[in-house]
Amino acid sequence: MAAEAPFGRRLCEVTASRADGGYRVFSLIDREGPQPEPGQFYMLASAGSWAGESGRPYLPRAISHARYDREPAGGYRLDFLIDEVGPGTMKLAAMMPGQTCWVAGPFGGQFSYPRELNPQAAGAILVGGGIGIAPMAVLRRELVERGIPSRTLLGFRDRAHSGGVGEFFGCEETRLAFEDGSSGHKGYVTDLLLQLLEGDDSATAAVYSCGPPAMLEAVRRICLDRAIPVELALESPMACGYGACFGCAVPKAGGGYLRLCIDGPVVRGDEIATALAGESDDG
Ligand SMILES: Cc1cc2nc3c(=O)[nH]c(=O)nc-3n(C[C@H](O)[C@H](O)[C@H](O)COP(=O)(O)OP(=O)(O)OC[C@H]3O[C@@H](n4cnc5c(N)ncnc54)[C@H](O)[C@@H]3O)c2cc1C
Ligand code: FES
Repeated sequence: MAAEAPFGRRLCEVTASRADGGYRVFSLIDREGPQPEPGQFYMLASAGSWAGESGRPYLPRAISHARYDREPAGGYRLDFLIDEVGPGTMKLAAMMPGQTCWVAGPFGGQFSYPRELNPQAAGAILVGGGIGIAPMAVLRRELVERGIPSRTLLGFRDRAHSGGVGEFFGCEETRLAFEDGSSGHKGYVTDLLLQLLEGDDSATAAVYSCGPPAMLEAVRRICLDRAIPVELALESPMACGYGACFGCAVPKAGGGYLRLCIDGPVVRGDEIATALAGESDDG
């Protein structure tokens, strides 16, 4: 169930920023927001530099937290993992300690626990791809804290499109795939999932995934074909983040639409018609 989100945006201080692989990790202190849940996301905009002369980026950008920690003086330190793909993510990645960022959220619903997804579940299988490893890191930490076994499979295109593994995941029970073979398995992370499921009793599996649409659709198909319950954290273009604009609608299985910002971003694999979302061309 979604936690109640504080809709008012608040100005938060950036406390760290560093390169990690091909991504950037930055941290800020959210003094007023509630504790975020695994799968939820924030709407972020760097203060002062947003909407430059070109007017872009106009809208804040949806970003998942990759980790949170309670601050001794109150509130939470939030860590974000950024892949610079356009004007918004470039401005977020350029923020330095001492600068400020507009933060709204956390928005959306959270992942179910394995026994909620599959009453027979022996543990969780987490499949992350690219920047989609961020929500998997938060879910994994939550499962570890609750003593629920999990295995993690992470996939990247190449070194230039990777990062966050050492910082947000331990080595134990984590397997890597690189499409260019620079580390771990050479190929797709879904190859690792298929290997794991071959040796697993599918009846006791519960799968969670976040990553590029093509990877999510492949994970969804693998699981649906084997009747394995799966939850996916989807991405779509988001403007408001709280259900008002319908910019984030994705087709439901059997007709109709889900608004990903309030009905997701976490959805069951059998709830949607496809995980292949359209590209964003908004401001
Ligand atoms: C719930 C949710 C959580 C998200 N979490 C994160 C996160 O933790 N870290 C993060 O970096 N991004 C995350 N995103 C994605 C991010 O919000 C979008 O990529 C956003 O559009 C980037 O804004 P921009 O102005 O930089 O690029 P835009 O101008 O919006 O996009 C620039 C170009 O890149 C393409 N593009 C957009 N997104 C991607 C992508 N993910 N990979 C490759 N190409 C892309 C667009 O189609 C466009 O051609 C999340 C999105 C959602 C909905
Ligand atoms: S982003 Fe506005 S309705 Fe979802």
